[in-house]
Amino acid sequence: TAKNRLDYQPPAYVISQVELEFELLPSKTRVLAVSQLRRAEAGATSLWLDGQELQLISLTVNGKDWTTYEQRPDGILLRDLPEQFELCIRTEINPAANTALEGLYLSNGAYCTQCEAEGFRRITFYPDRPDVMAVFTTHIIADANLPFLLSNGNLIARHQLADGRVRVSWHDPFPKPCYLFALVAGDFDELTGSYITKSGRNVALKFYVDKGQQQQAQFALESLQRAMKFDEDVYGLEYDLDIYMVVAVDFFNMGAMENKGLNVFNSKFVLADAQTATDTDYFNIESIIAHEYFHNWTGNRVTCRDWFQLSLKEGLTVFRDQQFSAAMGSATLCRIDAIKTIRTAQFAEDAGPMAHPIRPDVVEEMNNFYTVTVYDKGAEVIRMQHTLLGAAGFRCGMDLYFQRHDGQAVTCDDFVQAMQDANQTDLSAFKRWYSQSGTPELSAILENTATGVRLTLRQQTAPTKDQADKHPLLLPLRYELHDGKGQIQSGLLQFASAEQSFEFTDLQLPVIPVLLADFSAPVKFSYAWQTDELLYLSQHAQDGVARWDAMQQLWSDLVRRSVRDGQLAAIPSGLLDVLGQLIRSPLTDLAFSAELLTLPGFDTLAEQYEQIPVEMILDALESYQQQLATLFNADWLDLYQRLAPAPYRYSEEQTGLRALRNTALRYLLRVTETPDSLWQQQYTGSDNMTDKLAVLQALVRAAHPQAQQMLQQFYLQYGHNVQLFDKHSALLASLGTPQVFALLDQAEQLAQFDWKNPNRVRALYAVFGQQNPAMFHQADGAGYQRLASVIGKADVINPQLASRLVTPLLSFKRFAPARAALMQQALSQLQQQGLSPDLTEKLNKALHD
Ligand code: ARG
Ligand code: ZN
Repeated sequence: TAKNRLDYQPPAYVISQVELEFELLPSKTRVLAVSQLRRAEAGATSLWLDGQELQLISLTVNGKDWTTYEQRPDGILLRDLPEQFELCIRTEINPAANTALEGLYLSNGAYCTQCEAEGFRRITFYPDRPDVMAVFTTHIIADANLPFLLSNGNLIARHQLADGRVRVSWHDPFPKPCYLFALVAGDFDELTGSYITKSGRNVALKFYVDKGQQQQAQFALESLQRAMKFDEDVYGLEYDLDIYMVVAVDFFNMGAMENKGLNVFNSKFVLADAQTATDTDYFNIESIIAHEYFHNWTGNRVTCRDWFQLSLKEGLTVFRDQQFSAAMGSATLCRIDAIKTIRTAQFAEDAGPMAHPIRPDVVEEMNNFYTVTVYDKGAEVIRMQHTLLGAAGFRCGMDLYFQRHDGQAVTCDDFVQAMQDANQTDLSAFKRWYSQSGTPELSAILENTATGVRLTLRQQTAPTKDQADKHPLLLPLRYELHDGKGQIQSGLLQFASAEQSFEFTDLQLPVIPVLLADFSAPVKFSYAWQTDELLYLSQHAQDGVARWDAMQQLWSDLVRRSVRDGQLAAIPSGLLDVLGQLIRSPLTDLAFSAELLTLPGFDTLAEQYEQIPVEMILDALESYQQQLATLFNADWLDLYQRLAPAPYRYSEEQTGLRALRNTALRYLLRVTETPDSLWQQQYTGSDNMTDKLAVLQALVRAAHPQAQQMLQQFYLQYGHNVQLFDKHSALLASLGTPQVFALLDQAEQLAQFDWKNPNRVRALYAVFGQQNPAMFHQADGAGYQRLASVIGKADVINPQLASRLVTPLLSFKRFAPARAALMQQALSQLQQQGLSPDLTEKLNKALHD
């Protein structure tokens, strides 16, 4: 049942208020929903209410039993309705049996909800669409053994009932779509803080975590305070309720959810201390806490009219969280992270069967569209508007957007319109980014002229699975021209046609160009740089991203030549000089130095080939890393020893030091002369998980003889902690030797493993499918078979989980015929079993025509 973007119809009835009452019992929760409805479409007398997995107990309209309705598997059609009425529906639901983790479910004995995108329909019959916005009042009745009964908004009442149960009431004054509804009930530890907004509102900040983990929420709490400040400083946006709550649960399909006033988080994005979290975990926590907080304005106060508009809130909010992260630490590093996501997962999605524009046109299962395209390419599309309009112009556009649309459910068009109107400019050419899927390929040629250079740009987008015809897009192109005198002209070009030339004068030849500095548009870019030009740019480009990109380009050129010639291309001496120099005297930004000393990953390289030469890429990467390890052995050791760690703190400076030191360690562990005592000392002597885990990662990547034994030791020591259990699983699943299959079998048998918990399953199998190319792509197809059978098992339990795991199999057309056939076979086998709508949508797209 595909839905089309252009078929949008406004709701026939709107709801001003809804009052919910929950009587919580694990397998028999009663839900009473009393809504005030009013006709919105002239002449309408019928109303569709979505509902799934619900048992209907009673239904009245204006207090009378209503019989003129039609019940279908996915909802109820009410007929003969008056203009205005009170609708009262009683249903019964079974949270204990809810393994899909949509709607109301239990996570380790605590009730929680996930309603985005279409989970509210598993709680009660309701028009489950984001353009129906109502004021919610929620009453929760539960036994006294559930001390915390939470919902959106402000607490308005708490009563002890005669039967010993407790009834609490919450009221959220801001009208909202039902996907932002949340309920949580459980026994938690509570960590409390506060924030005083710019205009003086005192906001209570409350974090609810499993017993005994209160201190581990401290960093998340401080992150929230920083995010609140940032949104005031940069966008003038303040929080609007007296309380902001965050609940951490271990069973969760995604990262987190921005329910009004009551965020629900995957616990791995809340809990952190030096002993259990890595620098990367800290970074992610800060960014996701900020992301969900920023949704309060970009998502909640102004929401989406329909789900095709998802990028309206997600692209924008990812852009905002990226801005925040850049302000909290190294902007260049943050940008590099974002670029990697686009060049790996997003380019792959655009080139595969699930290709879609950031604003999709056709959707079967909405949960399948919470994608890197909607989120991350969506953020790039916002970033380009920021680039084109400048920071001040962008801010004016945001101000106008809120002025016009606060309290509304709107479209991506409305957003761009506000940007345009606030800046008195025309973005109509730019808007094609919302409707066109696929990755533009941009190429450049530079010719000398009498007074400088002529830059000729060409763009082209290959047809995608969903869209045959492509058109040129407006690309903002940041550039630097380095001339013979060492002078630099830099600026921004707007390129909107298939081909165009730009003239630059007052330049002394020869000119070396930086093009697409800061990755100013999410495109594949090609230009025939000479090796020495790239070496020059790697040291002299003004833009940090361009310096890193020059290094990446050098390596991908080498790998490309190796693949073409069937033999390893030699590393140019100039590149070795630059690397040697960097190792001996790193830049002040140590984390940036680490990036410059790290080769592009398999996935980044893979996306540069139409048909992915798996073994050749892996072999080339392996050999180059081995060469750098051997050639610079003494320098790596020296660097490692000079970077002395201080007692753990999560700070930009320390994170950089650890990143560079562990880069050195990775190279050192590839060399047999490196004494075991070196890494053993780091493993046992370090006071933090970042450095311990770095040892294990380096052992695993170097296929070190002691890797397995150390993983076992880690498991015995730390496996009781679920965060660390998952880290163990992820390490194990990335072992690049055939033993991995037996080890996966064993891991599934461990007491802490649970097929019903997405974090547990992903730590093994999202990692295996996406971070272990050597074994996942093993030539006999064992990796494909394994993933397919896991997906089959997961789908019965949790369709969203299964549907996300299938991604690496979908792009089988990108591989040589023998391998593609094995992948396809694994998918076809999977299709033999009755599948969820989620997987069905993806497999149909991948396997048919
Ligand atoms: N809105 C959430 C976020 O990006 C994502 C929740 C989506 N959940 C889902 N099951 N589709 O912060
Ligand atoms: Zn989001």
